[in-house]
Amino acid sequence: MSEQVPTDMSNVMETPAKRFPIVIAVSGGSGAVYTRRLLQVLARGGYAVHLLLSAAGNQVIQQELGLRLDLNAPDLETWLGLSSDETRLIQFHQLHDFFTPVASGSYRTGGMVICPCSGGTLSAVAHGISSNLIQRAAEVHLKERRKLILVPRETPVSHVALKNMLAAHEAGAVIMPASPGWYHGVKGLDDLVDFMVARILDQLNIDNEIVHRWGT
Ligand SMILES: Cc1cc2nc3c(=O)[nH]c(=O)nc-3n(C[C@H](O)[C@H](O)[C@H](O)COP(=O)(O)O)c2cc1C
Repeated sequence: MSEQVPTDMSNVMETPAKRFPIVIAVSGGSGAVYTRRLLQVLARGGYAVHLLLSAAGNQVIQQELGLRLDLNAPDLETWLGLSSDETRLIQFHQLHDFFTPVASGSYRTGGMVICPCSGGTLSAVAHGISSNLIQRAAEVHLKERRKLILVPRETPVSHVALKNMLAAHEAGAVIMPASPGWYHGVKGLDDLVDFMVARILDQLNIDNEIVHRWGT
């Protein structure tokens, strides 16, 4: 897969969501490429991001991207393939630092994405468990009635996970399985990654044209 990051982000436009930072959380599901591309697009589009990473999320990054990141202070340029100037709007927070802004509902955000969302984190979110900052920030987004997007990746899906998805959905979360469509003129893996990222950006109300839209 190409490592190329598009330099022209004029197709990611100013929207109301841009006024508030976006929370991106990475848990231990497979699909590290989705997170990296999502963060690249947000950073290049000038969006402020609060970034959270679980220990298992870090292990998946090591397995799938071949990177050994420091769980407490990951090198964002290495992880995302961006310059330090491009990563300046991304603030990383340690997993158990509950003094961060995103641990409180009084801090406003433009929404939160857990991508990938492991079965374990899905379960915690569905049951209101707040034992780490990812789970706490998710709970905050639900209670504040803000957009919370979960991107699980598991197949087949167990009865337990299906019930957890329904519970999270009923609590207000958007469940977006990492399940890219193939109908938009797929030429390579990047197109499949972009399909998921474009749909996530749509859910965040961030205008984008990184993937050709059906009917246009
Ligand atoms: C390489 C690797 C791939 C994994 N893939 C998945 C996956 O696709 N979906 C999932 O739910 N869990 C997956 N797991 C298991 C989770 O990482 C594990 O359940 C972990 O406890 C989740 O913790 P977290 O929710 O705090 O990130 C994977 C683990 C590893 C090491």
